[in-house]
Amino acid sequence: MTTETPGLRAGDLILRSATVDDARFAADLYTAVRPEDPQDPVEYAHFWANPDTRSVTERFIGELGAERVAIAQQRHTSWAHTPERFGSVGGDLLPAFRTPERLEALLAAMEDRSRADGAVTFTSWTWEDDAAKLGVLERRGYKEERRERFWELDLVANRERLERMAGESRQKMRDEGIAVLTIDRDADPEKWHKLWRVSEEAIQDVPTTVPNVEGTFEDFMKWMRAPGLHEDRIWIARQGDDLLGVSVLSYPRERGVVQTDWTGMARAARGKGIARALKCETVTQAIALGFDKVRTDNDSTNAPILHLNEVMGYRRRLDMIQLLAKA
Ligand SMILES: CC(C)(COP(=O)(O)OP(=O)(O)OC[C@H]1O[C@@H](n2cnc3c(N)ncnc32)[C@H](O)[C@@H]1OP(=O)(O)O)[C@@H](O)C(=O)NCCC(=O)NCCS
Repeated sequence: MTTETPGLRAGDLILRSATVDDARFAADLYTAVRPEDPQDPVEYAHFWANPDTRSVTERFIGELGAERVAIAQQRHTSWAHTPERFGSVGGDLLPAFRTPERLEALLAAMEDRSRADGAVTFTSWTWEDDAAKLGVLERRGYKEERRERFWELDLVANRERLERMAGESRQKMRDEGIAVLTIDRDADPEKWHKLWRVSEEAIQDVPTTVPNVEGTFEDFMKWMRAPGLHEDRIWIARQGDDLLGVSVLSYPRERGVVQTDWTGMARAARGKGIARALKCETVTQAIALGFDKVRTDNDSTNAPILHLNEVMGYRRRLDMIQLLAKA
């Protein structure tokens, strides 16, 4: 959702509401700021055009003269769906214009918007090596709350290990009568609905500070139809009528690194090696498709998935840090 905001400024920048046509600029900007984490413009356009119905997002483009140089946004779950009023705020600039003063001005402008919207606590994320942004956040009273751990798996160096693990998992799943397949091959007419329910159950158990709210089926299907996902690459586990879990990699269309989009298991099915089996299928498929690496990220306190990533051979990258401040 965008709104008209005549006269909004952030330091020497003029802020105007962003439109879907600015999605490519946003992906280009974030890629320029951090070339090692390229962002896919096609994915951005999809997500900007298909917002979650239970969240409120305002995005702005920062202009200097007539030139687009910055992006800023504030977002929150619609208050009707959450008891805790967290407002996510942030912004960034093209490297040539990226000064601490402008980063702070963008943040301050988004805090104002978020506070006016009713936020009680601000939340913002930054890479742990982004000294400029961390400095601004700390100066404005933000404190570290939690970390997201980022990983990369070298599919060339780990090929044999992964193929061996996949083989062992296939045997185990056969022995337990659990089918592991891609969703396009599943004949159950209720499969998407079941996958939504399983995902909702699992999402509730991802460690988080900002509460996860139950998503709608409609929003779930927008996610499953994202450009990076393919029905013949969404791996599910099934036993009889029950869909037990899912793991899926997202394949950027234009730019970026293949990465885990989501892995989640029904509570009743955990601890049986099913997530391991599903993740192994996703990465052996990526190897077969010719990719040399995949990435993933997870909360730094999520013990089972940290363990699985380690045994699969993922190597840590830098963390992202979530910081909070009183609104
Ligand atoms: C994370 C999750 C997908 C794992 O599913 P699962 O099918 O139970 O996983 P598996 O049985 O394949 O493997 C879990 C591994 O973690 C280990 N493990 C479980 N709890 C652990 C803990 N507290 N500390 C360390 N290791 C742990 C298990 O021993 C197992 O390892 P092993 O195969 O070497 O014995 C599941 O817990 C889940 O859906 N969680 C909620 C959603 C989520 O957090 N998704 C992932 C990140 S976004």
